[in-house]
Parts: sequence; C-alpha cells; structure tokens
Amino acid sequence: MIKVLFVCLGNICRSPMADGIMRQKVKEAGLDSKIMVDSAGTGSWHVGERAHKGTLAILEKNDIPYDGRARQFKRRDLSDFDYILAMDKDNLRNIEKVAAGDSDGEIRTFLSYANDAGVTSFIEVPDPYYDNRFDDVYELVNQGCDALLAHIKKQHDL
Ligand code: 4NP
Repeated sequence: MIKVLFVCLGNICRSPMADGIMRQKVKEAGLDSKIMVDSAGTGSWHVGERAHKGTLAILEKNDIPYDGRARQFKRRDLSDFDYILAMDKDNLRNIEKVAAGDSDGEIRTFLSYANDAGVTSFIEVPDPYYDNRFDDVYELVNQGCDALLAHIKKQHDL
C-alpha cells in the first residue's frame, strides 16, 4: 500500500480538503486498493474536531464526502507514510524538525509536484482559516492533487 499524508497546521482547513479531494481522485482512478490517504496537523488545538465548515461546504459542493476528524502529526507517521506533504514551508520545517534527518518517506511541500509540472507558481497553499477563500484554495488543491497523483502513478508504474 502506498500511503500519503497531508499535513497543515490545524488539520481542519487545508489538509482535510486535500485528503477529501485526493481520496476521491484515487477512487475514481480505481486505485483505492493501492493508495491510502490521510491528513494531520502540526498543532493540537483542534484534535478530534470535524473539518472547518468552509472546507466541508466546498467539498460538499463538489460531491466529495468527508467525515475525518482532526489529529496531530506524530513521529510514527514518518515511518508509516511514504509521502508526507506539507501545505506550507512552516509545516515542512516542523515535520523536518521531528524527522531530524531520519525518515524513509518523501517529505515535500504538497505543491512541489504541481510546481514541477508547471501548473502553478504558488509554492504554499494559502490558509483559508484567516481569509475564508475556501473556493480559491479548493482550485489550487485540486490542481495539486492531480499533479501528485500523476507523480505517484509514474513513480509506482500504476
Ligand atoms: P489549517 O488552518 O492549518 O489549514 O487547518 C488553520 C486552522 C486553525 C488554526 C490555524 C490554521 N488555528 O490557529 O486554530
């Protein structure tokens, strides 16, 4: 099983959005027996909560079901997941701090695959928690997931 973890700060806005979108794409590609998707936050404030209502609304608008609950990123995730993908550079730094150079998986920014594919010049996913731009973030995350899935398929010959 190829395991993908999206990581943001609170695990209620950006990473659950990526989680929901990516699960849907994996399912539509018929790859749900090969690729598993999850999300986590580097912070603990929202542990146990459902995603932000803005994230739930835009997922629902796009017919994507999501009932995940927030959890905190933990050291064990480094050995459990093959791809650990940070929504911004702060998250990436925090993950790398926990890893301390010791990780088997690919630790990158989520948008790095879309950047490599020339799809977007955004390096980080802006946080809609502060400006409520859930619609714009959805489009960006959707593009990011397309590029990520293409990368995984190529890397694993799927
Ligand atoms: P997220 O957004 O990292 O995309 O889930 C945030 C959610 C909550 C907080 C910050 C960012 N907060 O400070 O509670």
